[in-house]
This record gives sequence, structure tokens and C-alpha cells, in this order.
Amino acid sequence: MKLCIALDMPNKKDNLTLLSNLKTSQEIWVKVGLRSFIRDGKEFLEQIKTINPFKIFLDLKLYDIPNTMGDSIDEIAKLGVDMITIHASSGREAMCEVTKRLQKVQNPPLVMAVTVLTSFQQESFFEIYHSNLETQVLEFAKMAYESGINGVVCSCLESRVIKEKINSHFLTLTPAIRPFGEDNGDQKRTATLQDAKAAMSDFIVVGRPIYKASNPQEVIDKILQAL
Ligand code: C5P
Repeated sequence: MKLCIALDMPNKKDNLTLLSNLKTSQEIWVKVGLRSFIRDGKEFLEQIKTINPFKIFLDLKLYDIPNTMGDSIDEIAKLGVDMITIHASSGREAMCEVTKRLQKVQNPPLVMAVTVLTSFQQESFFEIYHSNLETQVLEFAKMAYESGINGVVCSCLESRVIKEKINSHFLTLTPAIRPFGEDNGDQKRTATLQDAKAAMSDFIVVGRPIYKASNPQEVIDKILQAL
């Protein structure tokens, strides 16, 4: 299981300082999401690479028509990142298009399809999709697997079932981790490190519990030790 640190802070300097101060010999992934990428763009990715050979996860959660998804993937493939996200709800045709485009790329990034955001719970999800959340996560995961996608973003509550019912090698990435029971914030389907282990999650994403801590390095060390 790998740790992905979400670089969601209000400015580039703070994000870079967090990375510069990081002391670890273990493989660390860093997640550049919408906030940071919209503000700091491609240059930020280059700056991260100069600090350390971090694995970069560009979390833009693409959702569009198949041709636009494919064209965006062609552009993303030029950025030299290691993992990206799309929405499984963009559908089978769009996901197949993404797979097809990346087949032409040398060292393509891993593609993870978002199933149901971890900020949803049963009621809020039903209001939009009129279906059961767990059933839908599994449906999305199956569709993503059949479309040649590498794995899914889901909560720890669903990760194990996906591994069991779809394929044990199909990757799961689980956000909403509150390593030692920290504040949930807007997240609903949260989990601790123990839960993530039991769920056989391949990647855990941790944002606020690290960057809002008075000593982020201490939290990172504790997480890495527990992993
Ligand atoms: O601060 P926190 O640990 O809740 O951050 C979780 C990170 O994971 C955020 O950057 C959020 O955008 C991202 N994420 C998520 N749920 C998903 C996909 C990504 O929380 N389904």
C-alpha cells in the first residue's frame, strides 16, 4: 500500500515547502488536484520533480464526451505524470477511448476511474442516481475493468469487494483516509489505516490530516510506520 499526499494547500509555496521538508526513503506519491493545477499548472509539476523523484498523481477527474476525453488524455500524456483520474460515469465508450489513446504512449500513466466520490453517502447519492451506492460502485468498477482501465477510486468500504468480485490485481485507490480518526470534514465514507489495510487498498490518499497538522512530518512518519 502506497501513501499519496494530497497537495491541496492554498498556495504553491506551502505545497513545495511540505515536500522539501519531507524526510523519507520510502516511495511517496504526491497528488496534484484541481486546486493546485488550476492555480499553478504544468510548472508546478516540473518544480515537484526537481525536489525529489516523487511519483506524481494528477487528479483532474476528467468527465466529458469520448473524443474530448481522448484529446485531453493525449495532452496529459505529455506531462510526464504517473497516475491520472477520469470519472467512470463518463461511460464505457469514453473509457475505451482513453485506453486506446494511451496504448500509443510510451510509459503511460496509470488510469484510475472514480466510482462514487467519498463525499457521498447513500441518501445524497440516491438523490442523483436513484440507485444503491455499493451496487453502483461495483457496476462502475466492472465497466472500468472491462474498458481496460487500471483501477478505481472508491472508499475503503468498497475496495475489498471490488478485489474479490472483479480481479485481485485491479487497483484500488482510497481517499477519505483519517489515519488516526481525525476530523472528517466534508468526507462521508471515511476509513482509518487499519480499515485501508483490511480493504486491501493499493493507494491511500491523505490530505488534511497531514497538511493541517501542526507537525506534518510526524503524521507522515506515523503513517509510513503503520503501513
Ligand atoms: O483532505 P482529504 O484527506 O479529505 O483529501 C482527500 C483528497 O482526495 C482531496 O484532494 C480530494 O479531492 C481527493 N478525492 C476524494 N474523493 C475521491 C477522489 C479524490 O476525496 N473520490
